Amino acid sequence: MTMNGTRDLGAIVLEKFQFSDELFMIRVLPEEDSSIPLPGQFYLLKSWEGFDPLLSRPFAPIAVHENGSLDFLVKVVGRGTKIINSSIEGAKVKLRGPCGKPFPAPSGQRLLLLGGSVGIAPMLFAYKRYKDIVPAKLVIGVPGGEWENFCKSELMSDTNLEVFSDDGSIGRSGTPLTFLTEEGVGTDDEVWACGPIGMLKALGGSLIHKVREDQVYVSLEARMACGIGGCLGCVIPTTLGNRRVCADGPVFRMSEVSWDEL
Ligand SMILES: Cc1cc2nc3c(=O)[nH]c(=O)nc-3n(C[C@H](O)[C@H](O)[C@H](O)COP(=O)(O)OP(=O)(O)OC[C@H]3O[C@@H](n4cnc5c(N)ncnc54)[C@H](O)[C@@H]3O)c2cc1C
Ligand code: FES
Repeated sequence: MTMNGTRDLGAIVLEKFQFSDELFMIRVLPEEDSSIPLPGQFYLLKSWEGFDPLLSRPFAPIAVHENGSLDFLVKVVGRGTKIINSSIEGAKVKLRGPCGKPFPAPSGQRLLLLGGSVGIAPMLFAYKRYKDIVPAKLVIGVPGGEWENFCKSELMSDTNLEVFSDDGSIGRSGTPLTFLTEEGVGTDDEVWACGPIGMLKALGGSLIHKVREDQVYVSLEARMACGIGGCLGCVIPTTLGNRRVCADGPVFRMSEVSWDEL
């Protein structure tokens, strides 16, 4: 099926890299030509046959390669991600994507990208895509030592990067918001963020009166079913009324989201 470039695709698992028991990267190659995703867009992925679990799971690519293969950074949190973690090279998977609206082209003097946990994925993709167009800085926050192999991996090389960890075991102690407090943010900076909801809620307070409201974008998560705007299973409250994370987002202006009602 096709909708705004979104298609249902068969794909094959090319490689899987295990960073820890519950954190891995999976590289899949779609079997047909498909639209190239932009940072912020995502795919629904299903690596099992049948209807148990019923729904595919949404993931934002961390990298896209010239041959069309897509890398996803996945943290095991439940049944679907556990099954995906058991995928082997050569296995067939199903994809729907690219879904959703991407981050707009950067327009600030510097692009500050804040990623927490697996929210790092779209931020690293954005960094690699835009770093030659606008000065960019990637600030990531990870829970602790189980992320060490990821932080030292090839993926993170050649990156203007600052790492924070909750327990101080990797990089500096703190979260990406610690960076904003300690290093400051310029009025002409553009800020994009993706991560746990607590981090995104706190971001507003850290940035207030420091950057222009229209220069701050967040990528949100919601539980999803169709991924293409048809089922209304992923709506969130915004200042413009209810919006579908899968089709109107997942990228929203920070000022549009009704944070108190989330
Ligand atoms: C646009 C988008 C991009 C995403 N990108 C990534 C990514 O790059 N890497 C990654 O590891 N994960 C990503 N996620 C989250 C990922 O989709 C969920 O972790 C996954 O669907 C969980 O499936 P499960 O069957 O393992 O867990 P379940 O058994 O379904 O749930 C386990 C726990 O996780 C919570 N949960 C499940 N799905 C979501 C969700 N969508 N949002 C918030 N909480 C959820 C549940 O409430 C429950 O507490 C993304 C989600 C969205 C919406
Ligand atoms: S998941 Fe169906 S409308 Fe968003």
